[in-house]
Amino acid sequence: MKISIIGSGNVGATLAKRVAESELADCVLLDVVKGVPQGKALDLLHAAPSVGYQKKITGTNDYNDTKGSDIVVVTAGFPRQPGMSRGDLVKKNGSIIKAVIKNIKTTSPNAILIIITNPLDAMAYLAYKESGFDKSRVIGMAGTLDTTRFKYILASEFGVKYKDVETIVLGQHGPSMVPLLSHTRISGKPITEMAKKDKLEELKNKVRESGAKIVGLLGKGSAYYAPSAACFEMIKAIVANNDKILSVSCLAQGEYGISGVFTGLPVRLGRKGIKEIVKLNIEADELKALKESADSVKEMISTL
Ligand code: APR
Repeated sequence: MKISIIGSGNVGATLAKRVAESELADCVLLDVVKGVPQGKALDLLHAAPSVGYQKKITGTNDYNDTKGSDIVVVTAGFPRQPGMSRGDLVKKNGSIIKAVIKNIKTTSPNAILIIITNPLDAMAYLAYKESGFDKSRVIGMAGTLDTTRFKYILASEFGVKYKDVETIVLGQHGPSMVPLLSHTRISGKPITEMAKKDKLEELKNKVRESGAKIVGLLGKGSAYYAPSAACFEMIKAIVANNDKILSVSCLAQGEYGISGVFTGLPVRLGRKGIKEIVKLNIEADELKALKESADSVKEMISTL
């Protein structure tokens, strides 16, 4: 397998390290800045004898080196800074996505695209439009990240292991994301039986604010360990071709009453990308929140 990562900054380079250490695929790191992807690739290769991986790692500024990739992950773009919302990046990162996709669609026309650049749902929609790829091959990485963050928050709150938390977060990668309490269990018990309404609201707000909290703490740039880990979880599901349900940003065409927009929905991933959008039974208030969340992505897309 060949995985190309466009943008060799914090998210891209950390993802390259995860891919290299897993030995899942050969890896190409590409960036507009000369020297940076080459330097990071060489650094990763220097680590290989110690860690024990053997796959090919290439750093480049030339899209020809990404030719024939099975998966292309796009992290190119600006991260937000303190005080910025993800939406503030829409224009700046939109033009970067257009430039990147123009190249990828000629060099890797059969690849699965995973978009990480923010504002995630709008950028994934733009990549879908610009690439002309089938909707099954354009996927945004967000719900998987929001879900892992929520699992961490819940495990800490209830003092259980991460594996004992079952949950999923849908909707926009932003303030209107929808943590599905109806599908949240702590050691097998519904969370709604374990905490009062106020507490549940507090926990939901905590996950919504997770990204901004890290932006505030770092002072410069945004999160990258968890985003790269969530993307790697998606890559593993694609390669394993298993039926694991993950939340990803994808094109809705009537599912959950949403149409013509990218938003976080539960899907099964496989070798060809999205196998299906899974229909979960959710509460009426969750469905309403999911539709409103999709509307906020629509609004953002209209500014592109
Ligand atoms: N082509 C290729 N690479 C580009 C381009 C482009 N047109 N424009 C910018 N880049 C590169 C930058 O040179 C930089 O190395 O993208 C990289 C981005 O890296 P960082 O600034 O470290 O940002 P990072 O934290 O990795 O976040 C990247 O992911 O999570 C999102 O909000 C985040 O949109 C941001 C993206």
